[in-house]
Amino acid sequence: MNTNEFVKELNNKYFNGELSPQFQEKLQQLPMNRPDVFAFVQRMFSYMHSSGMSAKDLTLMQADILGTLLARILPGAWEERVPPITVQGRHAVIDEYVKKNHWLSAAGKSMLDIGCGFPPFTTIETANALDNWNITGADPSLPVYLVYDAEGNYATFDENKTVVYFQPAMPSIESWNQLLSNATATKKHFQNLLDELLTHPAKEGFPRLELNPIKQYETDKLNFIQGGIGEIDIAPQDVIRCFNVLYYFKNSFQENALQWFAQKTNEGGIVITGGDWAVSTECYYHVYKKENTQLVKKEFAFGLDCLCPFGIVSWYCLHEDDPQKAELVKYTGIIRKDKSFMDAFYTFHDAQRATYKLCARDSDGYYGAADPALQPQELWMLAAQTLTELNEAGYHQKAADVLSRAGFKTRINEVGHIAVEY
Ligand SMILES: C[S@@+](CC[C@H](N)C(=O)[O-])C[C@H]1O[C@@H](n2cnc3c(N)ncnc32)[C@H](O)[C@@H]1O
Repeated sequence: MNTNEFVKELNNKYFNGELSPQFQEKLQQLPMNRPDVFAFVQRMFSYMHSSGMSAKDLTLMQADILGTLLARILPGAWEERVPPITVQGRHAVIDEYVKKNHWLSAAGKSMLDIGCGFPPFTTIETANALDNWNITGADPSLPVYLVYDAEGNYATFDENKTVVYFQPAMPSIESWNQLLSNATATKKHFQNLLDELLTHPAKEGFPRLELNPIKQYETDKLNFIQGGIGEIDIAPQDVIRCFNVLYYFKNSFQENALQWFAQKTNEGGIVITGGDWAVSTECYYHVYKKENTQLVKKEFAFGLDCLCPFGIVSWYCLHEDDPQKAELVKYTGIIRKDKSFMDAFYTFHDAQRATYKLCARDSDGYYGAADPALQPQELWMLAAQTLTELNEAGYHQKAADVLSRAGFKTRINEVGHIAVEY
């Protein structure tokens, strides 16, 4: 099947043939030689369909991300390794949630951030946010060499001096494409730069080389271990956070991970697993508490922005049987079926999008693209701002009320997310 036929088939199957011509046009860029990309898009559309999203609620920004960026960031582009992609400020709201957590009753203040990514921005931020906590970050992909080029783009290398990952200085779609349109040439560029910097070391400015770069981030309250779930040797912790990791794996892996987390959690401690994007947008997570030696599921929480996400993290996963996506689809699907809630939500939210020039509706009623003048950080700050305003106007409570009427025990949790309790 070629790309055109694929897009047509998905459009008919999941959106009644109603995707806008511009949206379909952007999907024509999907690379035909990447079945993983095709499967991802199909899965995402299927989730959107199951949660009741209409073609008009998909943004042109999502089409751009799917058409050009997705193929570059899936493990298929990185020899099946999970790339250590992370963004500053991503877990600020989760840090706040840990601080105020009402499930946590372990006496200590230790936390493991497993699959912390590199550079470990979010783990460092957690160590700053959680005063007097002992924080450990762990990841199988912590690099031995880190090389910045003259533009500030960077690449990480393993002990064999093989490029593991690279990322642009400013992670916009354009700059990603610049590096990834010829990944082999980019790798070669960084490989040459490493050889040169090993001979003529430069430790400041750009270009520069850092050896065992993780060490520079360690403090008396923050340390790092190389290794993944089930691999590292660590004493039980009061909190385990595992964010934007499990959705790369099958449910059976996720279940085994939870068993390992249970062993590595103190009695009364909590485990938080989930996903989110910049400025804690599109956030969703499960919270478990260790009671009588077992992890007990306490709540599934999500931000109201998962209802009409600007980006793709709400639906990001690599396997059909992802249990968190199933929950998100279930709850957003119930909320979407409530016409009176959705009418009020759209009136408020569509006006926000128009004001902030963030994927506003066009004259045919389709969500569009973001103002191209917005830098990524500004864009996601504004996206987060729309969520804050929705919450301040009480829409999170109204959505939780819809779920309560459907028989679920809900609350607005300590950070304004809609939480369904077990
Ligand atoms: C998308 S990054 C997420 C980084 C960070 N937690 C965040 O939320 O921004 C996923 C990370 O999972 C790590 N990873 C892959 N397999 C893993 C495993 N078996 N155990 C723990 N981490 C793993 C990868 O190396 C990568 O750094």
